[in-house]
Amino acid sequence: MSNEQIVVEQSSALNGEISLAGAKNAVLVIIASLVLTNGKSRLKNVPCSQDVLHMIALLKELGATIFFDTKNNELEVDTRGIVSYKVSSEIMKKMRASVLVMGPLLARFGCVDVALPGGCVIGSRPINYHLSNFEIMGAQISVTGELISARAKKLFPKKLILEYPSVGATENLMMAAVFTPGLTTIVNAALEPEVLDLVSVLKKMGAKISIVPPAAIRIEGVKELKPIEHEVLLDRLEAGSLLLAAAMTGGEVHLPKAPAYTLDMFLLKLREMGHRITTGEHEVGIWLKAEKFPRAVSFKTGPYPGFPTDLQAPMMAAQCLASGKSVIQETVFENRLLHVRELQKMGAQIEVKYNTAIVTGVDELYGVPVIATDIRASCALVLAGFVAKGTTTISGVHHWRRGYDKLEKKLQTLGATIYFAHEPISSLQHSSRASVVGKKSI
Ligand code: UD1
Repeated sequence: MSNEQIVVEQSSALNGEISLAGAKNAVLVIIASLVLTNGKSRLKNVPCSQDVLHMIALLKELGATIFFDTKNNELEVDTRGIVSYKVSSEIMKKMRASVLVMGPLLARFGCVDVALPGGCVIGSRPINYHLSNFEIMGAQISVTGELISARAKKLFPKKLILEYPSVGATENLMMAAVFTPGLTTIVNAALEPEVLDLVSVLKKMGAKISIVPPAAIRIEGVKELKPIEHEVLLDRLEAGSLLLAAAMTGGEVHLPKAPAYTLDMFLLKLREMGHRITTGEHEVGIWLKAEKFPRAVSFKTGPYPGFPTDLQAPMMAAQCLASGKSVIQETVFENRLLHVRELQKMGAQIEVKYNTAIVTGVDELYGVPVIATDIRASCALVLAGFVAKGTTTISGVHHWRRGYDKLEKKLQTLGATIYFAHEPISSLQHSSRASVVGKKSI
């Protein structure tokens, strides 16, 4: 197990202007969707995060030829060589999003052999909505141990009703249905901005897809899809993290092309805290000027346009020093409060009842060794580190790398002291910054 850690020092106001990366959650499914085409596609704004590299490895295993220009964040994917419909369990286990290749493979080959996916430990995260609806469409599913097989000589157009608007199930079913003659409807579909980015990609490919109010997606099967060029939606979650970094440290930040229209509920809550937010023309671009003495706010996560569960942990970090009490209810995942214990170690006053955390603002947090338990928890702990006295050391660095493309560099640009170090936690804690062995500016 690596002893690499993220080291964060208490920070003065973080200020500046930052360009956002493309949205990880959009690009992963868009790369998977390229399996539906037969040719060379080009994607722009592709973040070089570990999950994206896993998805690239997955497509390569299927036979795609891929060139990733990491300097310009451009990805070229040639799917003409895809002949396999099998993904090794080693790749499947790296992240949950690997399951998103099932729909495209089923549509293209009528066969898929994969293993149960891995991913962050934020609940049981079953894939029953994916599998049961593939079955309704006519696929035969068999699950043997960790292996999942789906076979369908033909898929049928059906009305697929999701009990919960699952992002992954909506995406997978939509991709599975693109070649199915007739009309497939997904009722109670997830309409997250990343899902809509996939819809626009599929439409560019030639798919016939429409959104039917209040929350259905209708797909009319076509014979084939063509390769595309696409600029991936910018990352609203990275935007949220940078806004919080400035808000918590009393700074000012400008995110010129940030898709403000995807962050309504989050921005509402930041404004309620007292922070000044301005958005640009057509709701593109966000400016934040921090309120020095922010008020605590309560919020409840939910499917889009509700408060994003992926910003729950970072926003909780911001409540730890706000004035008053914040009640935070996590309704999307049943086990997404693991960061609470780590924030408590830093001095936060948080009480948990079932899926609700009650945070009472304190005067100070303290830098101590903490453990990141998932991608967004790693972000929450970095943010808490900026406002904690002394040095915070965070282990579980792989979570940070899975979700973000060098976000630490962007934070450094704003003025933060954040770096990676290879040190046992205890010795790091007692070292002065200058004496850290293996210190690596990141
Ligand atoms: C996606 C995002 C993740 C985000 C989440 C919710 C990607 C790569 N990941 O994850 O960052 O936190 O949406 O916005 O896009 N569920 C079932 N059965 C299923 C599928 C889901 O019970 O078959 C449950 C889950 O356990 C969870 C809830 O539905 O409680 C929402 O999950 P879902 O929307 O599917 O999340 P993901 O697509 O995995």
